[in-house]
Amino acid sequence: MKNEILFQQLFENETSTYTYIIADKKTKEAAIIDPVLETVNRDLKLIEEMGLNLKYVLDTHIHADHITGAGEIRKRTHAKTAVGSAAEVACIDIPLEDGQELFLGDKKIMILGTPGHTNTCSTFLFEGMLFTGDALLIRGCGRTDFQQGSSDKLYDSVHQKLFILPDDTIVYPGHDYRGQTASTIGLEKKFNARMNQSISKDEFKKIMSELKLAHPKKIHEAVPANMVCGLVQETRSIHPQIVDGIPEISVEEVLAHLPAVTAKKVRLIDVRGPHEFNAEYGHIQGAELVTLGADLTSFLEQGNRSDEIVFVCRSGGRSGFATAESVNLGYKFTMNMVGGMIRWNEKNQPVERA
Ligand SMILES: [Fe+2]
Repeated sequence: MKNEILFQQLFENETSTYTYIIADKKTKEAAIIDPVLETVNRDLKLIEEMGLNLKYVLDTHIHADHITGAGEIRKRTHAKTAVGSAAEVACIDIPLEDGQELFLGDKKIMILGTPGHTNTCSTFLFEGMLFTGDALLIRGCGRTDFQQGSSDKLYDSVHQKLFILPDDTIVYPGHDYRGQTASTIGLEKKFNARMNQSISKDEFKKIMSELKLAHPKKIHEAVPANMVCGLVQETRSIHPQIVDGIPEISVEEVLAHLPAVTAKKVRLIDVRGPHEFNAEYGHIQGAELVTLGADLTSFLEQGNRSDEIVFVCRSGGRSGFATAESVNLGYKFTMNMVGGMIRWNEKNQPVERA
């Protein structure tokens, strides 16, 4: 059976993510599983070199640690994207359900709904190979403490959907942090540190509740980006100029984009003090006051790194610092309004005061 299919395991270094290419040798129909945005060029080049016709881009779940390459690959290949239906992602072509079947030639990809790590998790079974995402890792499993995760559900998913498969089924996980590439159902049933067959559901739930892991570095960026298939750049309305590493826009451009502020697509964050906000030069309609310093830092730390934000102050100095701080924290679409409220008033634009 194995010589009728093609298989490649690829690795993304920064987030230790595995991407897989599977294909039917006869028809050359292929699927890519869990592609990462940063390695899309590498993966598409390999697919071309292998002479494959990419039919599906399959995500095992909405990832929190990396941005999916699904949207970018769909744009460049016309392959259909698929992720678990619970994700409710509008840009997905095929919302996957438990028990659904997809085909590469006459070879079946069986979709197994395996929620628990997140509520969107699926595992893909193809020709004796199991692509488990983060539901089952080598000697471990994905965390269950965010994205509607549930240790109760993960235990049932793994025990009732995966551990019933033949012992020689090969397990290909979504990640590995210790250099391991594959396992088998038989080995995981015996040796998985959290999930082996001698661990009860109550013991498992206790193990998971005591993990106390830090959130993934990219969670604030990755989850919202993955809800639009990783095509974050398409959601941007303003294209700032980069001056000395700081994205900048003019008062005129802010004016032109005020409808986007009203529609809450772009946020105007005024970083002055409360007194200045309501006196002196006033503030722009729709602006939110978040004063530079502790207030702004905690606002940025908790915020969504994909938010489009224009920072404003009196003359453009403090808002420049705010922009730099946001960029350092991983914000992608923030910018400084050059000239600040002084310039705004010079242009005789309407202002508000409390
Ligand atoms: Fe995950």
